[in-house]
Amino acid sequence: VAQPYNQTHRPQFHFSPKAHWMNDPNGMVYLNGKYHLFYQHYPEGTTWGPMYWGHATSKDLVHWQEQPVALSPDSLGYIFSGSAVVDHNNTSGLGKDGKVPLVAIFTHHNKELESKGRNDFQYQSIAYSLDEGITWAKYAGNPVLKNPGIVDFRDPKVMWHEEGKKWIMTLATKDRITFYSSPDLKSWVRESDFGAEIGAHGGVWECPDLFPLDLDGKKTWVLLVSINPGAPNGGSGTQYFTGDFDGKTFVPHSTETKWLDYGTDNYAGVTWSNTGNRKVFIGWMNNWQYANVVPTVEWRGATTMARELSLTAVDGKAYLVSSPVKEFEKITRLTYSKENINSSREIDLSAKLKKLNGSFRLDVSFQNKENFQVVLSNKTGEELRIGYEKDSNQYFIDRSKAGKSDFEKGFAKKHFAPRISSSERIDLSIYFDSASAEVFVDNGLNVFTDVYFPENQMDQLKIETNNAATVGRIEVYDISSIW
Ligand code: FRU
Repeated sequence: VAQPYNQTHRPQFHFSPKAHWMNDPNGMVYLNGKYHLFYQHYPEGTTWGPMYWGHATSKDLVHWQEQPVALSPDSLGYIFSGSAVVDHNNTSGLGKDGKVPLVAIFTHHNKELESKGRNDFQYQSIAYSLDEGITWAKYAGNPVLKNPGIVDFRDPKVMWHEEGKKWIMTLATKDRITFYSSPDLKSWVRESDFGAEIGAHGGVWECPDLFPLDLDGKKTWVLLVSINPGAPNGGSGTQYFTGDFDGKTFVPHSTETKWLDYGTDNYAGVTWSNTGNRKVFIGWMNNWQYANVVPTVEWRGATTMARELSLTAVDGKAYLVSSPVKEFEKITRLTYSKENINSSREIDLSAKLKKLNGSFRLDVSFQNKENFQVVLSNKTGEELRIGYEKDSNQYFIDRSKAGKSDFEKGFAKKHFAPRISSSERIDLSIYFDSASAEVFVDNGLNVFTDVYFPENQMDQLKIETNNAATVGRIEVYDISSIW
């Protein structure tokens, strides 16, 4: 029997539960040197079911330790997605003997009410922990926010709004966002709605997040909104808006819909709370279009790498930039590098992968924007292609021949990402794990994440270019397993 983290398709430097199902990351919070990651979990099966909050902790956002289940369904319903905050000033009064409470704010999903055809079966509740997230008590006065009659009413993301000295809850309400505020996490008032005339509306809005980032010395608010379906390459994905937030209303700076990640497999991601100015994001590396049928056996679902978010302006417009958190450097080791490579149509790097375990990073800089393809393949003809098409100015990832795909008819496809940067040079950085590729281009301005399921190890690596392309530098890094 394979050890849990040796199983086929098991990610080696991403978190996945030892067994059973996971979807959204939940309640991420940093406290006393530990990063907590909770997640939508069904501890009795490998498909979606009655939802619990699973729990894992990490000191560095790279190595994870699975903890006992944190929250289990109760008479009010399943435990759907939500967030957690450190209530430093004990505004909730849930702290005791000077112990600061960790408060989780989540959606209760009531199956019984749903089956009666009612529309108020999702509402918000809280739970608290006085021992750093290990044991939790549900608040006796739940729910803290009743449902006003909206079928999709969920995924509260709560933050402390310093200027307004109050808590703000960002909630997904059908295909809108509703902001609520509270002095104590127990009583909530509606502040405003957002989304009627903006954004993608091809599906329901879920798992929002609201946080400020610095943009050229100015505080700019970012609103993440996951949507399912309706993403640019099909199924679920995450759009975002930038603007102002005054504690009441979010006013966008532009009406454009932007996407956090153009791949198909980064969904329901949000950021850690209590990390100061640093904003760290993690997503669920999956897509509702096929999440329940992907060909893993002992478990289903994993997270993306933890990523640091920042903002940058391109031609006067604000864009999110994502890069793997620097802590990953600890498990990353340069094994090959070459500079000033003369133009050649095919560079074969297969020999450089020989001693690697299949989890690695490839960095390539192209001096001019010409067509290129990175091809990861094996002798049995499985191949994953990642590249750039100059004519359409798009990046792409093509997993149509990258392995198993018969589990869902829309899986075997080529996905596109319109290029945001206009620079002549292209910098590419790809993190390959057993069954995923996370592509960061133009220093994180364009990002795409795709999963794929090769039947045999992908041990051949080539870079194909046209005659006009100049490859500047190539680097291959080994990434060691975190397990
Ligand atoms: C997003 C989502 C959330 C919901 C949870 C249920 O993937 O649909 O909106 O709270 O999953 O597991």
